[in-house]
Amino acid sequence: MKDFVELLLKAKSVSILTGAGVSAESGIPTFRGKDGLWNKYDPTELATLYAFEEDPLRVWKWYLWRMRLIASARPNAGHRAIAEMEKLFPKFLLITQNVDGLHKRAGSRKLVELHGNIFEGKCRSCGKHYSEEELSRIFPLADKNYLRELSEEEFKERILNGLKERELPECLICGSLVGPGVVWFGESLPENALSQAFKAAENCDVFFSVGTSALVQPAASLPLIAKRQGAILVEINPEETPISSYCDFTFRAPSSEVLSEIVLRLKEQR
Ligand code: OAD
Ligand code: ZN
Repeated sequence: MKDFVELLLKAKSVSILTGAGVSAESGIPTFRGKDGLWNKYDPTELATLYAFEEDPLRVWKWYLWRMRLIASARPNAGHRAIAEMEKLFPKFLLITQNVDGLHKRAGSRKLVELHGNIFEGKCRSCGKHYSEEELSRIFPLADKNYLRELSEEEFKERILNGLKERELPECLICGSLVGPGVVWFGESLPENALSQAFKAAENCDVFFSVGTSALVQPAASLPLIAKRQGAILVEINPEETPISSYCDFTFRAPSSEVLSEIVLRLKEQR
């Protein structure tokens, strides 16, 4: 840790890639691993355009379940430490694969959401994007405050048993069904976010890979691009991943602990 912070103090440009592990300590399940969502649910039945076209009600119910969980969760010390880090370096970009919006709620502003945001909407026919506010207007059940207030019993009754297909949001432009504002398997990533992410990976002095299994492309290639361009590569993850062997530093502990410690030391020495 001491050697690493000494190097980090000299960095002018820092990029951080985060994954579901960063939100695990806020009580949001990750995708892989023994308690992971993809262990309990089949991604092809929930997170593809095909699944949405086959059974939009089923897909929306699953997303509303996750949205309720996220609405009641709070950012943890790891999110807060990352939000502080953006103020400590002249150039900084947070690249997140998470759709939960917890980084923004913790105060991060220099960020791109590579896989979208679960509280936003997207028409799968014409591509129109709906902000959180716009989605709530055409689909009041997706409102964060509404979902947060629902007890488990009420959620079961109103959403899991009660939601009707005719209540699902329709696009204001083309009239097709609007889906959640996240990237599904087989879909391309938002172009602007992706090009910013590649640029940040190519041009940083230090690249962090935090709480991600580094298995899903193209995000998983970012750490290796950074490394190839000469960046110091750091991993924070209790488990080993396919990129571990390329890293200059690895911290095998929960991200909240390691990130808080890093920020504390950075501040002490500035
Ligand atoms: P994964 O579930 O694949 O990986 C989560 C990682 O977090 C694992 O490597 C864990 O070891 C690690 N982890 C668990 N607890 C942690 C903690 N407290 N601190 C630090 N790390 C911890 O999640 P992602 O890598 O984010 O895509 O998955 C990438 C993408 O696959 C997701 O964005 C999602 C999924 O399918 C889409 O939905 C498009
Ligand atoms: Zn449309």
